[in-house]
Amino acid sequence: MLAGKRVLLVIGGGIAAYKSLELIRLLQKAGAAVVPVLTHAGAQFVTPLSLSALAGHKVYQELFDLTDEAEMGHIRLSRAADLLVVAPATADLMAKMAGGRADDLASTLLLATDKRVLIAPAMNVRMWDHPATRRNLAVLRGDGVLVVGPNDGEMACGEFGPGRMAEPAQIVAAVEAALSAGPLVGRHVLVTSGPTHEPIDPVRYIANRSSGAQGTAIAAALRDLGARVTFVTGPASVPPPPGVTVVRVETAAEMLAAVQAALPADAAVMAAAVADWRVANAGVQKMKKDGSGRAPALDFAENPDILASISKAADRPRLVVGFAAETEAVVEHATAKRLRKGCDWIVANDVSPASGIMGGSENAVTVISDAGAEVWPRLAKDEVARRLALRIAEALQ
Ligand code: C5P
Repeated sequence: MLAGKRVLLVIGGGIAAYKSLELIRLLQKAGAAVVPVLTHAGAQFVTPLSLSALAGHKVYQELFDLTDEAEMGHIRLSRAADLLVVAPATADLMAKMAGGRADDLASTLLLATDKRVLIAPAMNVRMWDHPATRRNLAVLRGDGVLVVGPNDGEMACGEFGPGRMAEPAQIVAAVEAALSAGPLVGRHVLVTSGPTHEPIDPVRYIANRSSGAQGTAIAAALRDLGARVTFVTGPASVPPPPGVTVVRVETAAEMLAAVQAALPADAAVMAAAVADWRVANAGVQKMKKDGSGRAPALDFAENPDILASISKAADRPRLVVGFAAETEAVVEHATAKRLRKGCDWIVANDVSPASGIMGGSENAVTVISDAGAEVWPRLAKDEVARRLALRIAEALQ
């Protein structure tokens, strides 16, 4: 499964480091070449000799090792790999990665790499649950770092809970998933996300509460399946995912132009919350109070419907997916919307305040296609995105 792949394995300083020896063996059994990098703390738990004997490769330990710099600098070392794996990823290593520190060989390699990084966290349960580690984990996930484990269980420190490093076989499975070619390799998928801002004058605008979280998760999930993703985003409150082509827009008109410029595409997922109307008489200068006590009258013009126009375009993507945020009669309204807009699928959700979905981390969607309505359970937005991306991959087979 991993034949010809090269894994750079960073071993941090935790008791779980002993499992890295087994991990090297399993990675090799799967066909990968393993290049070990040992931190100073890691060397307190496993010896360079055991690592190099098992890996059949020199162990890298020092940032300023002149011989290594002459043989292979740290930049090349980090890029010659297909994947960087950190196991165990200690709380300290995670903090360094999240902060962009580069004060030893391991952290420098992790900062300098242009490859994906998979971490297998391992630490005491309190350290794992600490707000600082939660923050660092969120930052790392946002940076596109893949995470396997930790598992629940008894730990070397005698406590019980999440914090045990994933078992070597689990880590190998995650490495295989990260390095698999992916069913969307060679496909171009367009994703729109976020709200639009429609100017009232140069300093004011009309907006909506979309965070862009679901669209961002979908773009990341499509990327993970190997797609080339063009991500057209309005001013969202979550950052765009790494590894996609980002086109930033503000207004619906700009979004339409960006979408048209991004075609052709194999599929389009229109998750943006596009404003239905723009201000037709937006001020060229900042609008002023004139002392009369009368508020200025705003005229509205209807915005182009990007989803409808792309669904009817001559160079229409093979699969067009729209979204429907409804506050009542979700399936009925979304079913009618699918036909009206001419898209293939509608992903409908209930955004009534009681659902807690808008701005939350979970979503409960119903996918409507010509086969009918399929109700999905309430899931994390990342999981909704993963399932949707797999469905898209299936449809494009
Ligand atoms: O009509 P409504 O806004 O409920 O439809 C939602 C779907 O239509 C979403 O997929 C959204 O991205 C898309 N849409 C669009 N252009 C608009 C309005 C909505 O592409 N002007």
